[in-house]
Parts: sequence; C-alpha cells; structure tokens
Amino acid sequence: MAYRTVLIEDNQIMLERLSSVIKNAPGFELSARYKNAGDALGQMQAFKPELILLDMENERNHILLSDLKKYYPHAVLIGMSRRWDSEAQASILHAGGGGFMIKPFTAEELQETINNLSNFSQVSKSEVITFFSPKGKSGKTTLISNLGAALARRTGEQVAIIDGDLQFGDMAVFFNLTPQSTIVEASRDISFLSPVTLKTYFTPVGDNLSILCGASKPDLAEAVTMDSLAAIIHMAKNLFRYILVDLSSGFTDITATACEESNKTILMTMVNGGYEIQHMKRAFEIFQCWEDYKERILPVFTRVSPCTEEARQQYSDALGVPVYHVLPNEYLAVSSAADNGRLLINQDKNNSFSKAIDEMADEFARKVI
Ligand SMILES: Nc1ncnc2c1ncn2[C@@H]1O[C@H](COP(=O)(O)OP(=O)(O)OP(=O)(O)O)[C@@H](O)[C@H]1O
Ligand SMILES: [Mg+2]
Repeated sequence: MAYRTVLIEDNQIMLERLSSVIKNAPGFELSARYKNAGDALGQMQAFKPELILLDMENERNHILLSDLKKYYPHAVLIGMSRRWDSEAQASILHAGGGGFMIKPFTAEELQETINNLSNFSQVSKSEVITFFSPKGKSGKTTLISNLGAALARRTGEQVAIIDGDLQFGDMAVFFNLTPQSTIVEASRDISFLSPVTLKTYFTPVGDNLSILCGASKPDLAEAVTMDSLAAIIHMAKNLFRYILVDLSSGFTDITATACEESNKTILMTMVNGGYEIQHMKRAFEIFQCWEDYKERILPVFTRVSPCTEEARQQYSDALGVPVYHVLPNEYLAVSSAADNGRLLINQDKNNSFSKAIDEMADEFARKVI
C-alpha cells in the first residue's frame, strides 16, 4: 500500500518538482499539496495523511509544528530545507517528527529516509565516544577499530567510526579500505547534506559498521574545520547508535571540539616505561574545566604487562582517579593483524586483547559506564 503523502511547500517551482518526485516514487502517493501549514491543517483531514513533508524554510510553519502533530498524530512528519538546518531539525524532532530531508530529493532518498525512520529516533540515544591521547602512538586506532567491530557485532546496532586524525589518519589501513570519499569531501559538502546523503560518504564494512575515512593526503585536512566536524558528528547521530571518533594526539581546536561534542572521551596512553602518568595527569587537568569531567573522561592504559586488576589499581592510585580499563601488551598479535589489514578481534577471539575489548563493548552496550 502506498504512503498517503501531503506536501507542504511555499515555492511553486519546488512544489512542482517535489510533486513529480513523489508521484513517481514507488510506494508513495501524493494525496494533497499546500503552500503552508496553516492551509494544510484545516483541509487535509479528508486525505488521512500518513506522511507530511513540511517546508521548514517558511518560518510560520515552525509555529504550527505541534498543532500538526496534535491533529495528525499518526502521520510521519518530515521537515525539508534546501540546506541542512540543525535548529529546524531539532524543532521537528522535538515536535515528535520523524526526520529531516534536503530538497530537492530523489525518490530513492525519500524511500531511504522512510527506511531510516527508526534510526531518526536514535538522535537522543546516540552515543559519541572520542579517543584522545596526550602523545602519539598510544594505541588509539588499534582500540577503536577493534572496539567498533566488537560493538557492531555484540549490539547488532549501527556503529560508525569517524577518522578525525585529520592529517595522518590510518583507519582506512586498519580496515584495508580504499574509500570513495572521506571526511574531506563530507566537510566540503556538509551544509548540503542530510543524514541519508551523509551516509553515502561512509564506507560500509559489514552489515552495521561504517567508516568515514581520514584525508588521503595531509594537506587536504585543512578543509575540515571545527564547525564542519561538529556538523558531521551531529548529523551522524541520526544514523548511528555508536559513533567512535579517532583524533590526532594533543590538544588542538579540532580535538577539543570533538571531545566537547562527545558523551564520553577515552583518555589513552601506551605504557612505554616513560612519562605516561605525568602526561595523563596533565591532560586530565585540562579536562577538569568540564563540570562533568568525572563521568565523561575514561582513562585507559594500554600495553600493560602484567594486565591485572592490581595494575589497574596501581595506575588509578598514581593518576588519582579510577582507571577505566587496562589493555594487555599484545604487540605481535595486534601489529601482525593490522599489517594484514585484519582486526585481531575477528582473527582471534581468545586473545587477551580481544577479550578485553569485548568486555569494554559489553559495558558500553549495557550502559554501565
Ligand atoms: N595493546 C597493545 N600492545 C602492544 N602494542 C600495541 C597495543 N596497541 C597498539 N599497539 C601497537 O602500538 C602502535 C601504535 O598503535 P596505534 O596506531 O593504534 O596508536 P595511535 O595512538 O593510533 O597512533 P598514532 O599517533 O599514529 O595515531 C602499533 O604498532 C600497534 O600495533
Ligand atoms: Mg592512530
């Protein structure tokens, strides 16, 4: 049965264009069209609309959002704009709407938006986890790639990895990918994208894990700004239950922005017989400017040997705050897996590193942290 669709659009040319898309979209039927929500409210009852596409560029339509939802509670309400507008999207979701689209759209985009509706309600549930390290070579990418795969497998939910290590991101290498598009193109285009079109910039690896790869050359990374990265993360929340963001080491405006946007920040270091504790302490001090830093910052030490509860306790005592996890020294296993473009977690489930990652994934899934 076709979706009875009501189109509300002020601009005549756009109205004609979208009407023809809807009429030709399999599974959709154009029941009525109006110039604004005021006209539609009183008149569309007879059509029993199941889908209302609402022009959000017309300010007056915003005021009538809650009335639309009140009088047509069973209709799916989708906002439309020529550019991505996170405020308008928030109003739609707040009013109980299903999502947001960029117009003009194609029949496929309309179809996919409806298919993704269940994901739209994830906006508030979506969990963004950034991975920050004071110094480089801290085991971040190794952890993220394996944790992403473990989360996708164990939860069965949509998981994304965003490679925000802008100049030297190597997530593509870990997954053995040659991406068609990267964070650079997504940043360039972000204001014209909607969740459905943003998804095409991610490279799928498996059923429910997708990667937005980093710049192919360091000089391209300039295209990614604080604003564009924040906008990508915001929009990705419409698509994914978990979003893991890899970052370059150290504090920069980009790493700080990404951490601000996140629900949790894994603060990582690799044990190397050096100054890890001092670096972690100094980084921790900077995060203390967040009121809720105690809940949001999760310290992790990797390459710990022996990797025991006592070791975790020792690091906690030295750091002055509880260490969230210690990960074992498994250099040969993780590096040979990475060299072959494979993930240790997929290759050897019984390896101690894989087990620790599975445990971490379970904790995220159960929301015990
Ligand atoms: N638990 C571990 N035990 C031993 N070696 C590890 C462990 N985790 C990662 N490594 C090794 O440490 C090196 C750095 O790891 P990785 O690339 O994940 O770190 P990174 O923080 O992402 O580094 P970069 O600063 O280059 O982004 C790699 O050679 C990797 O194989
Ligand atoms: Mg890395």
